[in-house]
Amino acid sequence: NKLKKEKNAVILAHNYQTPEIYHGIADFSADPLALAVEASKTSADIIVMAGVHFMAETAKLMSPDKKVLLPDMKAGCSLSSSITGKDVRLLKEKYPGVPVVSYVNTSAEVKAETDVCCTSANAVKIVKSLGVKKVIFLPDDYLAKYVASQTDVEIVAWKGICMVHDQFNEKEINDIRDKNPGIKIIAHPECPPEVINASDFAGSTSGMINYVKDNQPSKVMMVTECSMSDNIQVENPNVEFIKPCNLCPHMKRITLPKILDCLEKETGEIIMDKNTIDKARLSVEKMVAIGR
Ligand code: 13P
Ligand code: SF4
Repeated sequence: NKLKKEKNAVILAHNYQTPEIYHGIADFSADPLALAVEASKTSADIIVMAGVHFMAETAKLMSPDKKVLLPDMKAGCSLSSSITGKDVRLLKEKYPGVPVVSYVNTSAEVKAETDVCCTSANAVKIVKSLGVKKVIFLPDDYLAKYVASQTDVEIVAWKGICMVHDQFNEKEINDIRDKNPGIKIIAHPECPPEVINASDFAGSTSGMINYVKDNQPSKVMMVTECSMSDNIQVENPNVEFIKPCNLCPHMKRITLPKILDCLEKETGEIIMDKNTIDKARLSVEKMVAIGR
């Protein structure tokens, strides 16, 4: 905390970071949409992304003149690594004129081939805002199915999955409901459709946090990465969290010692060519303009 003040650095953290990062050192903890907006507004010289690689890249897109650091360059994402820029170009050739909506959980190279980005907080709104009958929606197959269930738009999907949310299953959800009468079960839309259908509510990390804050259920299970429940327990002391506990190995690569090391040595800098930055930034800016 002392060093970040000395260096005029800001630490941005995703909601899946551990409590000591989320509560102890982050200047701003949020979902990827809010992190992108915050990165575009900050007056800091250095942005340290306590999150995964695509989030650090997105921060660089929004603030190309800032030094953006990622404490562990191996902090990736199974969704982001499921698709390349070339894959998107081939899809566009196969479906000419069909707009491409990409989840922010993609590389800058994929974003550069994208018409508009979305996050899980605004995927339905973004797809509806295009006013078209068909969209290419990538790379999360389950999020694509969720969007299809909420709109009349025909979706061309990709076979990407989140390795964390894919581990949940319907039986687990039903067993927890049987053992905990009255529990509210809230799921992330990166979960398989049958898990979402067995739940009481589906929403992004910010949507789930707001659900708990507004509804104050006596017992809740957040069907998502474990650290979420740990992080928001303190603001919701009367809510009992039943924790299914699936950890994201990529998010968990980011630790306090690695953040300190990266800030001290200014290592893990995100470097991208100007052409990619300029093209990819447009798709993120369009998303930010449409909002939540
Ligand atoms: P959201 O905060 O957009 O819901 O993100 C979920 C996620 O898996 C980020 O990697
Ligand atoms: Fe990617 Fe899933 Fe980890 Fe998020 S939780 S970074 S979507 S693998």
